[in-house]
Amino acid sequence: MANPEIFKKVIAHAKEYGFIFQSSEIYDGLSAVYDYGQNGVELKNNIKKYWWDSMVKLNENIVGIDSAIFMHPEVWKASGHVGAFNDPLIDNKDSKKRYRADVLIEEHREKIQEKIDKEVEKAQAKYADKFDKDTFLATNARVLERKQKIDSLTERFQNALNSNNLEELKQIIVDEEIVCPISGSKNWTDVRQFNLMFDTKLGSVSEEADIIYLRPETAQGIFVNYLNVQKTGRMKLPFGIAQIGKAFRNEIVARQFIFRMREFEQMEMQFFIRPGEQESWFEHWKKVRMQWHLALEPGNGKYRFHDHDKLAHYATAATDIEFDFPIGFKELEGIHSRSDFDLSQHQKFSGKKIQYFDPETNTSYVPFVIETSIGLDRMFLSVLSNSFGEEKIDKEDGSSEIRTVLKIHPALAPIKAAILPLIKKDGLPEKAYQILNLLKFDYNCQYEEKDSIGKRYRRHDAIGTPFCITIDHQTLEDNSVTIRYRDTMLQERISVDNIKAIIEEKVNMRKLFEKIENR
Ligand code: GAP
Repeated sequence: MANPEIFKKVIAHAKEYGFIFQSSEIYDGLSAVYDYGQNGVELKNNIKKYWWDSMVKLNENIVGIDSAIFMHPEVWKASGHVGAFNDPLIDNKDSKKRYRADVLIEEHREKIQEKIDKEVEKAQAKYADKFDKDTFLATNARVLERKQKIDSLTERFQNALNSNNLEELKQIIVDEEIVCPISGSKNWTDVRQFNLMFDTKLGSVSEEADIIYLRPETAQGIFVNYLNVQKTGRMKLPFGIAQIGKAFRNEIVARQFIFRMREFEQMEMQFFIRPGEQESWFEHWKKVRMQWHLALEPGNGKYRFHDHDKLAHYATAATDIEFDFPIGFKELEGIHSRSDFDLSQHQKFSGKKIQYFDPETNTSYVPFVIETSIGLDRMFLSVLSNSFGEEKIDKEDGSSEIRTVLKIHPALAPIKAAILPLIKKDGLPEKAYQILNLLKFDYNCQYEEKDSIGKRYRRHDAIGTPFCITIDHQTLEDNSVTIRYRDTMLQERISVDNIKAIIEEKVNMRKLFEKIENR
């Protein structure tokens, strides 16, 4: 469920604790562009490693590449992005704000769904144990009327999108009496198409320069390298190529923090298969990718599949994995069946034969492709918002305080252990450094001696450090430390010799990978 208050808190927290800063902030910022701070970059790198290893290390038939952002301009004609990578935009004449027409309609539809959810909640509270949700949904007159409204709206909306009927999109907005969230008015312009690609010039003399594009997806870098990788890696179908890298889109509406950015990162994998096997591989990758998310134990009901209302120009089937962000359920990852569209187009536009000789069938063909594509920044936002918590702590003197904690999975946490000498003298800092030196080759640790131990614990709760190791006078006597666990706040006395094993047990990604493997 959308929770704008929590969203605001997560955004403020991300800045205050060095996760995310507005780009060029001292110049008042650049809209929909963000920088990752000292803790943000660690979390981001850990997410990348979790994804990369789950693809390239776990699957002997998937390899990685790192292709350039700039590509030959013909690539984007062949891929269809020059002609069809558009969003339908509409302006409100009173607020002068620009919107995506499809998003306005989708949000309107979600509001109707929220009304149904509220009816269910109300009835649940009223009838308690006697409540039967399925019967209620199938019989309640108000719910049925709203469901009917959603169904007819969806049908009309999908028809308009799939036939690129911009007049009809506008008419839906008019008929549904959708108002501008800023001005509250229904004073709309017509709907127009807007290409999302950024362009720039290649060459030093601008008059002679060729227009080139900043890639709007990393996938094309994989397609144009299909032959290189297949030949040099002697890859046999089915096989995959994975890549992590920046992508750029001139988004019309970019008001949702790092959910929709103009410069962002994608983690994409193109899986090349025999034609005819697309349905089973599509199902396979849907399952594997959902398992990758669930292995992080995000809590029940956080993910759902959502089939696209409109297929992208390259797709023959597509589903999203949606996550329950504080802005509601939204797309986190896309799984697309791309047929042989991209490779065939590149074959046509480049004039080079892009085929696979199948030794089993003795035939040559253009492989089909199943793609998994996840936004790294969106994954980051899902981890950050899902781990953010405020807990009431009762103190010994009868008062209470609020602790802000990020319960990030230890394998993804930016700092694995804080090394904290109780005081700054009596040889405790020196002993603490010895322990730091023991751990730092394997884990990202942070040494801190400033402020009271309580304050240092709180600071590390706020950045999601799973373990705090406190060094006191007893440590000098018997080589023991206090280890404090972030989630439970429990403290126990352990030998220095055991620290590594305790950290390793929780932060090693192996357990996550085993969960994906045992699906
Ligand atoms: N190659 C396929 C492709 O690019 P997409 O659904 O357009 O498909 C894939 O994008 C993923 O990239 C999305 O599920 C989302 O996580 C991420 N993404 C797309 N646009 C984004 C944006 N403007 N800001 C942040 N992430 C974005």
